[in-house]
Amino acid sequence: MALPTKVKIVDVSPRDGLQNEKQSVLTATKIELVRRLGVAGLKAIEATAFVSPKWVPQMADNAEVMAGISRLEGVAGISYPALVPNLKGLEAALTAGAREVAVFGAASEAFSQKNINCSIAESLERFRLVVEAAKKADVKVRGYVSCVLGCPYQGEVAPQAVAEVARALYDMGCYEISLGDTIGAGTPEKAKAMIEAVAKHLPLKKIAGHYHDTYGMAVANIYASLQCGVAIFDSSVAGLGGCPYSPGASGNVATEDVVYLLSGLGIDTGIDLAALAATGAWISGELGRASNSRVGRALLAKAAKKA
Ligand code: HMG
Ligand code: MG
Repeated sequence: MALPTKVKIVDVSPRDGLQNEKQSVLTATKIELVRRLGVAGLKAIEATAFVSPKWVPQMADNAEVMAGISRLEGVAGISYPALVPNLKGLEAALTAGAREVAVFGAASEAFSQKNINCSIAESLERFRLVVEAAKKADVKVRGYVSCVLGCPYQGEVAPQAVAEVARALYDMGCYEISLGDTIGAGTPEKAKAMIEAVAKHLPLKKIAGHYHDTYGMAVANIYASLQCGVAIFDSSVAGLGGCPYSPGASGNVATEDVVYLLSGLGIDTGIDLAALAATGAWISGELGRASNSRVGRALLAKAAKKA
């Protein structure tokens, strides 16, 4: 299959990245991260999560983050989805002005219990209510399936199990289904087999790849996904992140690395790599460490040599 000519990138760093930070990050820093990502050309930025602050204290400032984003200027046409696990989360997201939300299920029972304290079937019932209420409010809903290439508690996850949850989310009205390799353990042929299983149940153009980079396979998995026809990928600037309920899992694939890969393949993303790398360097500095993006570090070293 020919590779897609255009790819949409959803930068999830303000949520998936910062949800796993041990140190507290100022709300103003989060809003500035969102602003810089928008200026760099990202058209979808996952802003925050309306989850229980007891479970994920890092996202407790969700309403303040959304309020700050609503005041940003000069970055039109961007969607800022926020994670919601249930109706309570949706109500809070709507009150805070969210125009897009994301529900997050799992292909593994054990992970569903650890992450959202209910079974897969119970989660789908909750999500159905969320989607119905969101539709009434004219708010789009994205759907996630976690543990698509393995579970930290259960081990192997069958592609068919992923396909069933993806199909259920799509059938209830999620406009796009993001397939999450939460533990970042997948390899390209496994990723292909999983995508092929899912693509039997929903259109390829509705599928997004969400790869964590724990084992350094994320870019290879993205390339394999492109070969299957997937044209939407989630990533985090500077490779920030991890899931608090997935022990040992590292950050998402770095947005800089994905943009570099795609640009090398002649695929358009509309993103300014230099501005993105500068954003990655800036947020890494704010967090007091080096960027996890190899492309970001290389570009930074090149710029330093020039200066
Ligand atoms: P629970 O304890 O079963 O909830 O948690 P409950 O319904 O029994 O309520 C208990 C308390 O939580 C009550 O408060 C509720 O009001 C409150 P209390 O009466 O005790 O004061 N509550 C809430 N508060 C704020 N926002 C809400 C909310 N709902 C209930 N939405 C719950 C269930 C789902 C809330 C909890 O398990 C939770 O918040 N989990 C979120 C976990 C999380 O955010 N994980 C990380 C994101 S997933 C991820 O990273 C994977 C992904 O990136 C894809 C991939 O990589 O694969 C998406
Ligand atoms: Mg994730």
